[in-house]
Amino acid sequence: MKIAILSNGPGNYSTKRLKEEAVSRGHEVDIIKYKNCYVSIEENDNKVFYNGEPLGHYDAIIPRIANSMTKYGTTIVRQLEMQGVYSTAKSIAIVRARDKLRSMQLLAKYGVDIPKTVVSRNNSDIDDLLEQLGGTPIIIKLARGTHGNGVVLAETKKAAKSVLQAFYVMDADGTNILLQEFIKESAGTDIRVFVVGGRVVASMQRQSLTDDFRSNLHQGGMGIPIKLTDIEKKTAIRSARAMGLGIAGVDIMRSNRGPLVLEVNASPGFGIEKVTGRNVAVKIIEYAELNAKQKPKRDRVGA
Ligand SMILES: Nc1ncnc2c1ncn2[C@@H]1O[C@H](COP(=O)(O)OP(=O)(O)O)[C@@H](O)[C@H]1O
Ligand SMILES: [Mg+2]
Repeated sequence: MKIAILSNGPGNYSTKRLKEEAVSRGHEVDIIKYKNCYVSIEENDNKVFYNGEPLGHYDAIIPRIANSMTKYGTTIVRQLEMQGVYSTAKSIAIVRARDKLRSMQLLAKYGVDIPKTVVSRNNSDIDDLLEQLGGTPIIIKLARGTHGNGVVLAETKKAAKSVLQAFYVMDADGTNILLQEFIKESAGTDIRVFVVGGRVVASMQRQSLTDDFRSNLHQGGMGIPIKLTDIEKKTAIRSARAMGLGIAGVDIMRSNRGPLVLEVNASPGFGIEKVTGRNVAVKIIEYAELNAKQKPKRDRVGA
């Protein structure tokens, strides 16, 4: 097959690993920096240009869209989908995953357990919201935050109110701010489950090495391999399906009432390969091989 990896970082570990595995399985691979693509839109003639030339034909694309370029990246992916190119991640599913509020709504609708979450655009609701969450401490989260940036622990009502007031000034619409029950019993640790094609291919626990409640590797967290329970596996697989993602990094917290999903990542990092010794890249290439040949499936999520 001819495969394009849409990545702005040809030197990224994930990009290199995907290319390596695809080449070793006999595919022709190009790395396309989507930031250097543009689209031309005309009736019945939509095209993607790369470095000024029309992009050639690919049997499959593997999008690795950076968080900071979600809109631009998904525009390019959408355009290629419209031209009939198979993508291992649908543009709509990437957009869903990049919005934690939309993700929580979808996961809850599909019966996935999540930390209790409330959203409002009104300052005057703060007392009610805190009550709904069973009081402080609470987590306040930006819907489009990533790598642990934009997640705040408010330990007292006073702190929660002042953080929220500051956030509401920046986001009058309110939909970028989530208030969440604080999962105290597993603070500082969570589980990353890598799902490909309805199967768990690797999993690790991430542990904060300081007193930080965030376990993101970008915040200095450490990963160790972990064995999942059946219910954790099912939760991860169901979450990926709820989001319409064939390839997903599902973040789960072990709570007193079972696994709770924090978020589903559409371009999950490959650090998990180093932690677990699992070959995640080859699973993705096999997934692309299998699906590029099939008729396009309709996205059934509907939101
Ligand atoms: N409701 C919560 N209760 C306790 N810890 C949380 C909660 N939500 C997030 N965290 C911690 O903060 C980290 C980052 O939160 P997450 O929602 O995954 O955002 P990001 O996209 O920034 O990774 C999580 O990995 C977890 O360690
Ligand atoms: Mg996370």
